[in-house]
Amino acid sequence: MSDKVWQLTDRSGIEQALHPDRTHAQVLVADRRVCELHPWVLQAAADHHTAVLLLDAIETRKTLATCADVWDFLSAQRMDRRGRVIVLGGGWTLDLVAFAASVWKRGLQFDFLPTTLLAQADACLGGKCGVNYRGAKNQLGAFAPARQVWVWPGFLETLPQRELRAGWAEVVKHALIADARYWAELSTLAWPPTDWVPVLERSLAIKGAIVSQDPREEGLREVLNFGHTLGHALESASLTTENPLLHGEAIWYGMWAESLISEHAAGLDPAAGQAIRAYIEAQDFLVNLPVIDVDSLLDWVRQDKKNMGMRTRLSLLTAIGSAAPGYVVADEVLTHAMRQALCP
Ligand SMILES: NC(=O)c1ccc[n+]([C@@H]2O[C@H](COP(=O)([O-])OP(=O)(O)OC[C@H]3O[C@@H](n4cnc5c(N)ncnc54)[C@H](O)[C@@H]3O)[C@@H](O)[C@H]2O)c1
Repeated sequence: MSDKVWQLTDRSGIEQALHPDRTHAQVLVADRRVCELHPWVLQAAADHHTAVLLLDAIETRKTLATCADVWDFLSAQRMDRRGRVIVLGGGWTLDLVAFAASVWKRGLQFDFLPTTLLAQADACLGGKCGVNYRGAKNQLGAFAPARQVWVWPGFLETLPQRELRAGWAEVVKHALIADARYWAELSTLAWPPTDWVPVLERSLAIKGAIVSQDPREEGLREVLNFGHTLGHALESASLTTENPLLHGEAIWYGMWAESLISEHAAGLDPAAGQAIRAYIEAQDFLVNLPVIDVDSLLDWVRQDKKNMGMRTRLSLLTAIGSAAPGYVVADEVLTHAMRQALCP
């Protein structure tokens, strides 16, 4: 991804993005809830005779079975490889539909209209897509970037607070791994921000710069996984309970624990680690934790895609604004940090 594929836009830009180019078939696959809250989206699709498939974004249904629904729809619409799929929704919808499109007839182009904070600030860029398999997060996946991404912050006005607070985890992560000044601004900002535009611009610029240098995660890009090794393990474990954590909620716990590990393994100044954890606690971001057996988390950690063999590899902070991948960390260190985060 060398060129900038994203642009911030207003509602008319989203309507514009729904215009077909007349030469190729076009379909819309969208989050049902978003379309209920923003019915003008479906009206615009109907005006352009664009067939629509609505999906329910439920993490436990981020599966191959739901992909099959997308494939059935593409088949019914006789979509060939020159067609265009417009994907509208949060990270769940973008991940799943992009994955389904990426294997449809060996690859169908798609554009993203992200609607959650997490998707607008993070998931819409970089081409990672996929579904969960046997309960483990994103075990089946591909690198398939969207052709274009239109970001309208107005969608966030209908997003529940819980989702906003979860999405903020990825924004804070961008600052922690890449930009100390940005962290200084964010950590003193009244929450929620009154203007999302500067936040989205900064986050998309950071993520865009990292993924364009390492599109297939062969090294540098792994820094984006700060907080995600333990976060994903916790999220996967929570998906087996009746009250699963949201992705971003699990990442708050993951960043809390991995800031502690960063002090021990990556030379992060303990005062900096403490400041990160104090911010997360003061803003009450450690919430909604179901009952989890901490020891079982190691089994989920072992399924992490960054591991090599049985060695757990983490991306850690070397300082605020700087991260590095590939730290091999012993099980005891992981369990200790996780225990501290989950049972303070
Ligand atoms: N590909 C990537 O780089 C990447 C990065 C981070 C996370 N993810 C994935 O993203 C998923 C989480 O995505 P998410 O946090 O965006 O949430 P989501 O897509 O799961 O949506 C969360 C809820 O918000 C609703 N919703 C979406 N937009 C709305 C709006 N504007 N107004 C009101 N309700 C709205 C949805 O219907 C759903 O109920 C996880 O599966 C995670 O693995 C992918």
